[in-house]
Amino acid sequence: MEKRELLYEGKAKRLFYTDDKDLLISEFKDDLTAFNGEKKSSEAGKGALNNKISTELFKLLDSKGVPTHFVEMLDDNHMLHKKVDVIMIEVIVRNIATGSLTRTLGIKDGTVLPFTLVEFDFKNDDLGDPKLNDQHCIILGLVDDVAELDTLRKMAREINDILLPYFADKGLNLVDFKLEFGKDSNGDIILADEISPDNCRFWDMETGEKMDKDRFRQGLGGLKVAYEQVLERILGSKQ
Ligand code: CDP
Repeated sequence: MEKRELLYEGKAKRLFYTDDKDLLISEFKDDLTAFNGEKKSSEAGKGALNNKISTELFKLLDSKGVPTHFVEMLDDNHMLHKKVDVIMIEVIVRNIATGSLTRTLGIKDGTVLPFTLVEFDFKNDDLGDPKLNDQHCIILGLVDDVAELDTLRKMAREINDILLPYFADKGLNLVDFKLEFGKDSNGDIILADEISPDNCRFWDMETGEKMDKDRFRQGLGGLKVAYEQVLERILGSKQ
């Protein structure tokens, strides 16, 4: 597969065209950003870890019947995937309250939620990714109808139902995570982007240690070791 010209550069990945119009290559960068790009750094090897973690998780989800954009991992930093029309909604799935949920609603950090909460944020850095309700999504034209929002919620819950026990088995609490979806060339909604410690929160079940990008957000250090641990635990129990 030939890597062609740059299509788009995001905060954590560069997207390239390929010689197949339906396929793109993502290059996972070592850059780290938080607080809507206000805090910036870089960690050598982070991109490769996220590529490998995402690859394993996309394969897992594929094997359970969840449609994803994943095609194959090409090398340490490159993933081949389907081209989709990205739905500009960040689908946030929460099992335990922390982060912005704690800040905005005053729910005590670490509270186990009575059921899995699925929320929509507008994928718009200029506006600071504000919360959306269904009506906002329709008014903004982010989806065609409410049925598509229901599809996003259903798929997000299915993904959580797979990942929550999967990580529990590895001694990690899947606290919350962000998903992005897109429409493929058939118009079907499929999972896109990445699933990595950059956009998931993992807490070690025994020690409570944070094993994700909060190590960077909160200046805790040890980010790479934590990401390596997540990958090791995923690979350790591969069937
Ligand atoms: O990071 P912050 O506390 O501001 O956001 P959050 O809404 O509490 O984040 C919920 C989950 O979504 C966390 O696992 C974040 O890593 C992830 N997220 C993300 O990956 N990208 C965003 N733009 C916002 C949240």
